[in-house]
Amino acid sequence: MTSAQQQRRAILTRQQDGTYRLTLEQAAVPAPAEHEVLVRVRAASLNRRDVYVLKGQYPMPPRASLVPLSDGAGEVVAVGRGVTRFKPGERVAAIFFQRWIEGRPSAETHGSALGGQLDGMLSEYVCLSEQGLVGIPHGYSYEEASTLPCAAVTAWNGLVTRGRMQPGDNVLILGTGGVSIFGLQFAAAAGARPIVTSSADAKLAHAKQLGAAATINYRDTPEWSGAVRAATAGLGVHQVLEVGGAGTLAQSIASLAPGGHIALIGGLAGFGGDIPAMALLHANATASGIYVGSRADFEAMNAFIERHRIRPVIDRLYTLDEAQAAYQRIEAGEHFGKVVITL
Ligand SMILES: NC(=O)c1ccc[n+]([C@@H]2O[C@H](COP(=O)([O-])OP(=O)(O)OC[C@H]3O[C@@H](n4cnc5c(N)ncnc54)[C@H](OP(=O)(O)O)[C@@H]3O)[C@@H](O)[C@H]2O)c1
Repeated sequence: MTSAQQQRRAILTRQQDGTYRLTLEQAAVPAPAEHEVLVRVRAASLNRRDVYVLKGQYPMPPRASLVPLSDGAGEVVAVGRGVTRFKPGERVAAIFFQRWIEGRPSAETHGSALGGQLDGMLSEYVCLSEQGLVGIPHGYSYEEASTLPCAAVTAWNGLVTRGRMQPGDNVLILGTGGVSIFGLQFAAAAGARPIVTSSADAKLAHAKQLGAAATINYRDTPEWSGAVRAATAGLGVHQVLEVGGAGTLAQSIASLAPGGHIALIGGLAGFGGDIPAMALLHANATASGIYVGSRADFEAMNAFIERHRIRPVIDRLYTLDEAQAAYQRIEAGEHFGKVVITL
């Protein structure tokens, strides 16, 4: 009898205090079942969510162990019976919600997130449904493609699918993390006017190089909605990528132009915050809850990325052995753009 081929992968094991411990292990390479695809993962990227999962702070039912990270890209190496969407040799990325293909999410969508309720991508080999993958943009590396499934699709859904961003829109981008830098790049490529906040002047200088029309240091100017108005000739912004939550929402709403849209995405400054219904009503404004997006969002975004030659901004590359350090880099908030682990 021949032993099954082995691979290396990361595993999170639940501890008594509800947090998880990250270790590396050897495991058998899975075989693709009917309608499944075996992918040799070449790169995976981290999101703030992955830190929340590690610390047991992510809203999901506890698991004894799981493979972390929703985001990864690699090469198809084998397909199961009945697979028609992919062939061996094709370059693919996983979609965040394995069961959200297009249109509205369904009752099944929430339970289908990789690196959470389903095992994720920090593994040399993964088997996924052929429906849970997309082809990666032509001419892009696995490292670049690995940054797209969560952060980029979230920014796309917030600004384009739900926000209907138009050329000339003033677009407020909070901070310089993963979601925000994609938002900045999409807004600049669409002919909108991105306005970026950050705690660091060096990061704001980098944001300018990526097309920011105006920048604001939110440490120096804690009540930054006035600076946003000043940067928009008093009008305010048509779009906000709201990743800050409780600590930023009031300033974001105070920054809105009449008819503006605010995409409620994150909680970097504490999840939650009050929605002042009357202020939204008076401004004819819209607030949307955004939870990543569908496969159709991902495919539309890939076409845009290819057309505009948008290169994902990679902050730093780590190896699988350095996975812990990659988590620490995100947790410290030192990064600009995306942190990637190569496999
Ligand atoms: N709803 C969804 O589908 C979805 C999807 C992805 C992410 N999220 C959420 O969105 C948030 C961002 O995720 P991410 O992965 O992009 O995070 P990230 O890469 O870790 O972003 C970190 C950056 O956030 C900025 N930041 C921190 N506090 C801030 C504040 N008070 N005001 C403005 N910026 C602040 C900092 O930018 P500077 O260093 O420039 O100051 C920091 O570098 C997280 O809360 C995450 O859980 C939600």
